[in-house]
Amino acid sequence: MSQHHAVVDRHPADEAGATNEPAVIHLRNGGTSVLVDTSGPALPVIVHWGADLGSPDSTELDAIVLAAQPQRVSGGLDIPARLSLLPQESTGWQGTPGLTGSRAGRFFSPALLTTAIQHTRSTLTVHAADAVSGLILRIDLTVDDAGVLGSGLTLTNTGEDHYDLADLCVTLPLPATATEILDTTGRHLRERTPQRHGFTIGRHQRDSRKGRPGADATLLLAAGTPGFGFERGLVHAVHLAWSGNHRLAAEKLITGSSFLQAGELLAAGEIRLAPGASYSTPTVIASWGEGLTELSARIHTRLRARPTHPAAPRPVTLNTWEAVYFDHDLARLTTLAEAAARVGVERYVLDDGWFHGRRDDTSGLGDWVVDTDVWPDGLGPLIDTVTGLGMQFGLWVEPEMVNPESDLARAHPDWMLQAAGRLPVEGRQQQVLDLSHPGAYAYLLDRLDALLVEYPIGYLKWDHNRDLIDAGSTLTGTAAVHDNVTALYTLLDELKARHPGLEIESCASGGARVDLGILDHTDRIWTSDCIDPIERLTIQKYTGLLVPYELMGAHISGPVSHSTGRRHELSLRAGVALLGHLGIEWDIAALSDAEYTELAGWIALYKANRDLLHTGTSVHADHPDPAVDLRGVVAADRSRALFVFTQVAASTFYPVGTLRFPGLDDDRQYTVRPLALESTGTGNGQSPLAWSQRPLTISGRALGTIGLQGPVLFPEHLAVFEITSA
Ligand code: DGJ
Repeated sequence: MSQHHAVVDRHPADEAGATNEPAVIHLRNGGTSVLVDTSGPALPVIVHWGADLGSPDSTELDAIVLAAQPQRVSGGLDIPARLSLLPQESTGWQGTPGLTGSRAGRFFSPALLTTAIQHTRSTLTVHAADAVSGLILRIDLTVDDAGVLGSGLTLTNTGEDHYDLADLCVTLPLPATATEILDTTGRHLRERTPQRHGFTIGRHQRDSRKGRPGADATLLLAAGTPGFGFERGLVHAVHLAWSGNHRLAAEKLITGSSFLQAGELLAAGEIRLAPGASYSTPTVIASWGEGLTELSARIHTRLRARPTHPAAPRPVTLNTWEAVYFDHDLARLTTLAEAAARVGVERYVLDDGWFHGRRDDTSGLGDWVVDTDVWPDGLGPLIDTVTGLGMQFGLWVEPEMVNPESDLARAHPDWMLQAAGRLPVEGRQQQVLDLSHPGAYAYLLDRLDALLVEYPIGYLKWDHNRDLIDAGSTLTGTAAVHDNVTALYTLLDELKARHPGLEIESCASGGARVDLGILDHTDRIWTSDCIDPIERLTIQKYTGLLVPYELMGAHISGPVSHSTGRRHELSLRAGVALLGHLGIEWDIAALSDAEYTELAGWIALYKANRDLLHTGTSVHADHPDPAVDLRGVVAADRSRALFVFTQVAASTFYPVGTLRFPGLDDDRQYTVRPLALESTGTGNGQSPLAWSQRPLTISGRALGTIGLQGPVLFPEHLAVFEITSA
């Protein structure tokens, strides 16, 4: 067994010194060190999480731990509390604890002590128990090859009566240099709006109570040095890989202790552990970096190492929604398919409106059979056309939802989530099915499976268009969000197991269900219903903190955005969608030949570069001018890169000044070639850029530190640069 995998056991309850195993455990992998003080029966303490510490010997490790011991102070407790892997009030901890629960009010303050520890070079498992409270706890920490720290907790009730769990959160320490917080908020059509503020004493907590993460959910809660950006500034962040209610928090105490916490947000009575029963938290994903680019690159690398990560080239997609909405007409959709094939589309997705009684968004959800009024011969004729043109066929569904105006709701009112016999306030005229109800689950599995058996459907766009409110089960009368999330994951997995190769997109009114839990069971997310490219710059930049481009749907809209009314040229719409999983959401049935040629050109550019875009490192330049957006993807071996410079609005500076290209190899020579400059509207009166008149060969160091003069562009126009090693 290699040293990497060797498992070392230690039992702190044994007499001190009974083993030679050091009390300080150094987890080290992927450029990350996590130093854990496991001395004593008290729960272990993380002394360091972040930069690789090299290979300090045990004397040095002991010194580091000793140096971190807090002092007793006046007015304080005699033994100063330390931030352990599960902070508990019983140790004197006066910040938010990691575990809250009770047995009908009793045993409210657990005192878990370590009973055993196992570790390898990159994993640590801590077992702890409190015999009086009747609890045992397992804590898992893993530092993966990308340097991402994954952590989860499992609590078991060893008592003789029920234990009501209120809160169980993973807690991770922050360095004292973390004085600024970044998270995102948002709404339908504007997900992932960044917000920053000082990290002062107190708690900044982001809760989701929507039964899905929500359009406003922060994907990461980050804390770092003042003004940290993408290129620089030490920053740490957490994410909860979970598609239901959640709580992320950053807290700073008067003692100087500051930390991040993440866990599922549980409703009253939602998790009631019977004797012998266990609850496991979703996995907390924690990353750090010198700048957000490094922090998110670790997460992207982790995702890309999954055996289930999409490996085939991400097909250019046409989605019918903004092209036809509910106007399902075979002739119209056939013409659209022909136009799609003409420009190079590879996947054609029929959106909402194909099933029984679904003529608009007021009815039909739940009745998952093809509407024979609109599709008298079924979907076969359209699918034959699509597949005959060499494209894959995809279909929209929204399985968890039901319109009260549907045969399903009329037949099974008890399948709808509700509280105390009272149906929740409707959202988009719909209610939510209880997937934890065996009848509802079996119905959905049967119906979806039947569709996938009947038709050659390679892709499901799986939508979810309302927040959950009062989400209780009619079988138990208790809150059922947790059980619905686990049932959803099972349903998705079952469909994929029955239909190998099936891909599923997670959509929720756009990006209201974006998390690494759903992405373990699906293949991409629909980033936002807003495809206005100017809005998309922000939405995609901050979604990209978590989600790599190959999993992020990015579509080319029609000339006028349906959600903002703004008009943009194709170059802007396509250039922004290029950095993503590219698609089209536009009625392209009747374009001019010139428009078809231009669109086909952008699709060809995507196809020629998708291997780079979907395996490389996503980078953003920290440019001082908010009107300048420069982003790109650098190949893993840094042999080439593609950058997109967008003049978001009019700049104060004229000409715009230098653009620096981060992420390249300092010691390599590159050739920079502007692409798609001619169609971007450069105005009158400018001379051509000196450097663009011939192939420019220049070092990565110069491009990253000095940069080159950016082209003068009209506001809301962009330019693409191809950078290849000379
Ligand atoms: C919301 C989605 O985000 C849209 O893309 C579209 O599929 C509609 N639902 C259909 O109702």
